[in-house]
Amino acid sequence: MNETGNEACIPLPHEFALLRTLRNMDVPHVGLGDYPTAVEHLPALGDVWLKREDASSPLYGGNKLRTLETLIADALAHKSKRVWTLGAYGSNQALALILHARELPLATGTVLFPQRATPAAAENLRAIISHGDRVVTLRSIATFPVHWWARRRAHATEYLITPGGAVPLGALGHVSAALELAEQVHEGKIPPPAHIVLAVGSTCTTAGLLAGLALARKVEAWPWPLPIVHAVRVTPWPITSRGMILRLARATAREIPARGGPTVEIDPSRLRLHTRYFGWGYARITRAGLLAAAKFRELAAPPLDTTYAAKSGAALLDFIDLPGPKLFWCTKSSAPLPPDNAERLAAAPAFIRSWLKRAQSNASA
Ligand SMILES: Cc1ncc(COP(=O)(O)O)c(C=O)c1O
Repeated sequence: MNETGNEACIPLPHEFALLRTLRNMDVPHVGLGDYPTAVEHLPALGDVWLKREDASSPLYGGNKLRTLETLIADALAHKSKRVWTLGAYGSNQALALILHARELPLATGTVLFPQRATPAAAENLRAIISHGDRVVTLRSIATFPVHWWARRRAHATEYLITPGGAVPLGALGHVSAALELAEQVHEGKIPPPAHIVLAVGSTCTTAGLLAGLALARKVEAWPWPLPIVHAVRVTPWPITSRGMILRLARATAREIPARGGPTVEIDPSRLRLHTRYFGWGYARITRAGLLAAAKFRELAAPPLDTTYAAKSGAALLDFIDLPGPKLFWCTKSSAPLPPDNAERLAAAPAFIRSWLKRAQSNASA
């Protein structure tokens, strides 16, 4: 047991696809989700398939769960007393950490900076305030670097997950997802995709997928042409850029031999970065995003949030005539959120309560 009372070794509800493929690799991992996530055909859109990362857990799913599986395991291995996340008010990563850490159990902390007030972000912020351990909501992003620095200083006892968990260890979770996809293609559950479409923010998921597909190719688990990964930018430059994605993909690829796997090379020609779906800023609602969300609703496909998945959904709708199977990476959790805690929300700072009110009226801004 460590000082927070965590079991050093948490039972794995599934085998991490990375470790299943390369058994000698040294990758820390706690199982938080139910894997493999399903792959489904969406025939109404033609040769379009869904990777149901949204349904990776009934507690809270989405792409950030795989990032957290390696990073939380690393925190436990370092005997950290508390795991911190940093992000925007509506951070999916912060919410996923809070809801899953309660089950481990593991103490958490969250530092959140302001963002565009939207219903999607407000839903998450209400859940974070209602269920978070220590939640610090900043009035301005200007003080964010100070908090980041303070948390880094406390790193000996408190584990810090950077925004998006965009470090090679976090991206290894998505390397595993690529190997899982390779297994599903071999099992005949989905044809080898020619295109993968997903939202890119911190770059963690996209970089991990690029490294994972390259690894799958290297270990002869992907004999088909490597798909083009269409990363749809949802955060501004320079947080998200082609250079940043490739940098993390290469760093993740270097991590693979360092942890006992083979050497892997990233092929930059497999990455396309799309910037035209971004709109006027991070979390700003776009018309194309709203239309994509409505289309997904009509087809009873997973819900698309206006910050991330709706923007990649809008791109998908533009790509449906591209030749070959298209695979949409469903990154936003579709798990119902636990009920709000009215007392905690009433005790939130006044500027947060007015931000939450504003968010409700910004549905079509
Ligand atoms: C729902 C959703 N989709 C996509 C992304 C982008 O993933 P990444 O930050 O790994 O690029 C995020 C990031 O938080 C997210 O929450």
